[in-house]
Amino acid sequence: MWKPPERIKYKPDPGSSPTAEEARSALLFSPVKLGPLALEQRTWVPAMVPWRSNEDGFVTDDVLDWYERFAKGQPGAIVIEATGIRDIPSGPLLRIGDDRFIPGLKELADTVRSASDGKTRLLIQVIDFLTIRRRPDPGKYFSRFLAITDSHREKLSASDWPEERIRAHLAGLPEKELDEILTGAELESLRMGYRERVTDMHLPHVKDLPQVLPELFAQATRRACEAGIDGVELHYAHAYTMASFLSATNTRPDGYGGGREQRARLPLEVFRHVRRTVGEDYCVGCRFLSDECIDGGNTVDDATYFAVQFARAGMDFLSLSRGGKFDDAKQPLVGWAAYPYTGRSGYECMPGYISDDFGPFGRNVEPVAQIKAAVDGAGYATPVVVIGGIHGFQQAEDLLRQGKADIIGAARQSLADPDWYLKLRLGKGDQVRVCEYTNYCEGLDTKHKQVTCQLWDRLQLDEPGIKLSVDGRRRLIAPEWK
Ligand SMILES: Cc1cc2nc3c(=O)[nH]c(=O)nc-3n(C[C@H](O)[C@H](O)[C@H](O)COP(=O)(O)O)c2cc1C
Ligand code: SF4
Repeated sequence: MWKPPERIKYKPDPGSSPTAEEARSALLFSPVKLGPLALEQRTWVPAMVPWRSNEDGFVTDDVLDWYERFAKGQPGAIVIEATGIRDIPSGPLLRIGDDRFIPGLKELADTVRSASDGKTRLLIQVIDFLTIRRRPDPGKYFSRFLAITDSHREKLSASDWPEERIRAHLAGLPEKELDEILTGAELESLRMGYRERVTDMHLPHVKDLPQVLPELFAQATRRACEAGIDGVELHYAHAYTMASFLSATNTRPDGYGGGREQRARLPLEVFRHVRRTVGEDYCVGCRFLSDECIDGGNTVDDATYFAVQFARAGMDFLSLSRGGKFDDAKQPLVGWAAYPYTGRSGYECMPGYISDDFGPFGRNVEPVAQIKAAVDGAGYATPVVVIGGIHGFQQAEDLLRQGKADIIGAARQSLADPDWYLKLRLGKGDQVRVCEYTNYCEGLDTKHKQVTCQLWDRLQLDEPGIKLSVDGRRRLIAPEWK
């Protein structure tokens, strides 16, 4: 992952923890309503893909174990990882694109309810994404994948060459000469791997996204509702389809790109269709970016505009992440796909302990505060979720008291210690296993390996009955808190 050039090393500092008595009067442990859904506390475990599903996208025993473990820590809400809304093979990514996924998701909802003693509400993050392919072997790219065009022939002065000769010639050219002959898209396919964009209007399935996506999201939400999941988080963040519609880089000419109003159009149409389908009694919100953190991307001003539109449309919560884009992703190795968390924007999404003058903790706080102030100022009470390096009670409580956010999300801190909110609430903050923000977990995620935390995955490996990772070296679930 990209690291800021300053390379300043930070140690997490969780600060002081409350006694059980103090926790009882803490805002963090006070209830909040997400529209029709009441949370017992303002504590939130955001979506994290742990690579526990299977090639068919079903809820497996490992998926159940993963969420059960978080539920034992009784947070106010858990958001199930990004879950695909289409019925297409998506590798081991959880899916909700057909009714056959409902029974597994129902079991998951029951598991969380039972493990949390009914204290945790369960949401699911629903996602659409466009095709991305692995970076090809250059030999194969030139011999098989590249479509030879008149432009290539013209630039090579090779109008009468047979195609095979052009392919062989291109394969032998130095990079600099290829820059002159191939188009930008062809160079990207060669060097990064083919990737579709929402602006690829020549592709019928991309052109038709505004006609297709509202119903796909609506049916996914209906299934979540039927499975007994308490709410849905529409994934409008990071590198995926809906975030790409919102992005300042979206120049679609069909009324769904260009200015902010046009970029927000499809996300609003999706939400309204979802709402019509499941009604006012079901909790529906979204996750989007406080800042895309890329050159020419959305800034907090854009996010503020979107937040007010989403609140006005009647979303039940707004969860703000930042960065995580393909636009500045590192070049992957041959055979690997580009990953949106490997560049500077990826760092902003999941800042590690090696950082710049600001440091890795709370980078999202002020942008979120600005967004919440705009939502409040426009007369909406839509709760706002903040995340980003939050790992201590005082920090969380101060944010709430200062009115900078309504709900506190912690992804990696919850992974490091799934019981951390519970420990704080019970006055046992000294027992919290504090995340070190090494991003070991994210490294596993990048390689699509089962995600674990380095602070616990080698502990008590001899414990009877525990499940180990495919490599047999790591436990898959944090040890129980006794
Ligand atoms: C292993 C891992 C998987 C993640 N998967 C998702 C995901 O499915 N959807 C999402 O919106 N964010 C995902 N994230 C980002 C987190 O939800 C969160 O925004 C980010 O880690 C920053 O919060 P933190 O500093 O509390 O960890 C993931 C993060 C990690 C570490
Ligand atoms: S591996 Fe554990 S300690 Fe390291 S960043 Fe992830 S959750 Fe935190």
